[in-house]
Amino acid sequence: MSILLSEINEQPAALERALTGSKDAIAELVAAIKARDVRYVILAARGTSDHAATYAKYLLQLTVGIPCGLAAPSVHTLYEANVNYKDALVIGVSQSGAGDDINEVMTQARKSGALTAAITNTEGSKLSQIAEHVLFCHAGVEKAVAATKTYTTTLGIFAKLAARWAGNDELAETLGRVPDAMHKELLGLEGKAQTVAHSLTHAERILAIARGLHLCTAIESSLKIAETTHTTTQAFSSADLLHGPIASVPANTPCLLLLPDGKTKPMMLEVAAKLASRGARVLTLATDPDAALPLTNTGTELLAPLVDILPAQLLAYHLTVARGLDPDNPSGLTKVTVTR
Ligand code: F6R
Repeated sequence: MSILLSEINEQPAALERALTGSKDAIAELVAAIKARDVRYVILAARGTSDHAATYAKYLLQLTVGIPCGLAAPSVHTLYEANVNYKDALVIGVSQSGAGDDINEVMTQARKSGALTAAITNTEGSKLSQIAEHVLFCHAGVEKAVAATKTYTTTLGIFAKLAARWAGNDELAETLGRVPDAMHKELLGLEGKAQTVAHSLTHAERILAIARGLHLCTAIESSLKIAETTHTTTQAFSSADLLHGPIASVPANTPCLLLLPDGKTKPMMLEVAAKLASRGARVLTLATDPDAALPLTNTGTELLAPLVDILPAQLLAYHLTVARGLDPDNPSGLTKVTVTR
């Protein structure tokens, strides 16, 4: 079996480990947050880790009510600016913990008085040495170049942090059931992801569209499909799509629409109708029985991104195989990319 496919299927177990293994470190971080007057959160990450950070950007605002944004690392590495992060909690997210630019943000953050935390899958990494608090993913070594289990374990750690910080026991309990929901969803997807993948063998462009909390799933789906299948992909917030780029969607363009149950679904259905009226090929990811790719309801919209990425990961895998490419080693990519 390909390494990518086995790592996709390993996610329920990896999430279980992440949730158990991070318990004490999360409790310590929340105690530190409460002991200091943390006023806002800044997240620093790249690639898939940045998509996990995008989930946290919404989740922490929704659960804790604290302003939360993404760092711009080049401000430090290329422009050499000094930024004052005092009163912030700055969280660096990196599976490898090796990115120079992320580590530079963290160094500056710590120097200027921020509370710093790392989410990483690599013990002893540079990032884990810079941050005061370290939350390990416990995902096990991720061998495939395309990240899967480090993404969902990072989402799990963010969800556990949010639940603990907000004192939301119901969210924590529901989170404990997500590994089962993931398992169920993977079973339900068997065959379906392969069928959709085969229908996309000749697609030249694929769009992924979502809104709000689910934007992370659209951008991560887009990245996963692009790096493994070499298709030109693009992710949109549905709001941004309607502000102009929808004009560039010709008939028959495959559009993955994230329609999990919750606040965004009604307006996403309107976007689906608009795209269909232009002749686009709308492929829905939803809990409805007639969805192109079925989703499992996790019991709260807040946790939906943990399971909603699974169909796209499987789609990326099957489309890669259908095109005769190597799913474990996308050409021209390496596991660790260092940018400044
Ligand atoms: C995509 C992927 C990359 C990494 C990115 C950041 O599947 O793996 O986009 O997410 O290079 O890597 P880390 O998290 O090690 O900083």
